[in-house]
Amino acid sequence: MQKLLRAHILHTPDNPFETEGNSALVSHVDGAVVIEKGLIQASGEYEVVRKQFPDAVVEHHPKAFIMPGFVDCHVHYPQIAVLGSMGMELLDWLELRTFPEESRLSDATYAKQTAKTFLRTMLCNGTTTAMVFGAHFLEAQNILFEEAQSLGLNIISGLVTSDQNIPDSLKTTPEKAYSENKSLIEKWHRKDGKDNLRYAVMPRFSVTCSDALLEVCGTLMQEYPDVYFHTHINENPSEIAFVKELFPWAEDYLGTYERYNLIGKRSVLAHNVHVSDNALNRLARAEAAIAHCPSSNMFIGSGLFDMRRHLDHKVRLGLGTDVGGGTGFSLFKEGLMAYQMQMLNQDGYRLNSSELLYLATKGGAEALGLDEQLGDLTVGKRADLVLVEAPETSTLSQALKHSPNEEAALSSLFTLAREDCVKEVYVAGEASL
Ligand code: GUN
Ligand code: ZN
Repeated sequence: MQKLLRAHILHTPDNPFETEGNSALVSHVDGAVVIEKGLIQASGEYEVVRKQFPDAVVEHHPKAFIMPGFVDCHVHYPQIAVLGSMGMELLDWLELRTFPEESRLSDATYAKQTAKTFLRTMLCNGTTTAMVFGAHFLEAQNILFEEAQSLGLNIISGLVTSDQNIPDSLKTTPEKAYSENKSLIEKWHRKDGKDNLRYAVMPRFSVTCSDALLEVCGTLMQEYPDVYFHTHINENPSEIAFVKELFPWAEDYLGTYERYNLIGKRSVLAHNVHVSDNALNRLARAEAAIAHCPSSNMFIGSGLFDMRRHLDHKVRLGLGTDVGGGTGFSLFKEGLMAYQMQMLNQDGYRLNSSELLYLATKGGAEALGLDEQLGDLTVGKRADLVLVEAPETSTLSQALKHSPNEEAALSSLFTLAREDCVKEVYVAGEASL
């Protein structure tokens, strides 16, 4: 059956950072998207599309927007309970709030409940694809993949590994990390039949990893060249100083990962707030991607991300909510935080609404190497979409009534739209809320 969704379409198939002004925004005020067999068969002006698909079943949402499903490039599965932990910077926040909570996932019942809530909440916020920082426990990680499979979400995830500077409850050994990663890769990496689930090797960060553990990660990446690598980097000044102390031989933080051949096309690194031009050059040359997590950088006081230098060095960028260092699952909110952070940054990059949409969708897909499959609403892409509608009495609904044009409407959406405005989410063509 063909389904035709009629609403105001907004997407960014072309990179707005490479075009002038807002011209990269594709907007059809009376638009249509046709879905069949999980894919987009057509998108454009309703009158035109309708003529091409006269038999499609039409669903009309006159007050709604249709956008591509959001892409979250960095979010932690075990950290919903940590959200809102105020008053601490990274290292204290990890020790006092995060590590104790993550230890609870050794209990499979708790892990199952956590995985269900995590994925459901992500979906309710319009996110259909994510790079998910996993759990330290094999069973909890299997549970996340099982639950993601049943929802059909596009997930890249993996077992988190650490063997030093972390409570014993979360410690592994290099040998155990090798065998558990191997068993998870063989069970889950592109094995679900729909190609929705992918694996990433995830040492927590250099602070909690010995050389031997990082070496094992490198061995795994060599043995399985199409799995991803995902970790944290250059987030907080005390963390960076600690890494320097632990790895005196390394040129810098990035050097601790480079030494074990962990930085390449399939590497996605979260944060990168405090970074030299030299490290940016090396990241660009390796074609690694950065997950920019503005709400987290502000909430746990890590610093102001230098977007202009990342763009100048042509480093691929996506947005990450970094729950629970961040402040929730909304990519609308993350876009607003990115915008505000650049407004405050000396020589900050003045983001426009098309660039925010791109970062939250297609740019994220590019950062995760999934842009051939998803990230915009062009023909042949996965039908992962969000229907966004402002509740009648909301501030957003008032703001939209006065929007002079589509770019302004999109700015209002990023400023004011949240979970309560996500009316429906389609995952591979299936309504999923
Ligand atoms: N660095 C190591 N672990 C974490 C984490 O859980 N959150 C953040 N924001 N940074 C980290
Ligand atoms: Zn994180």
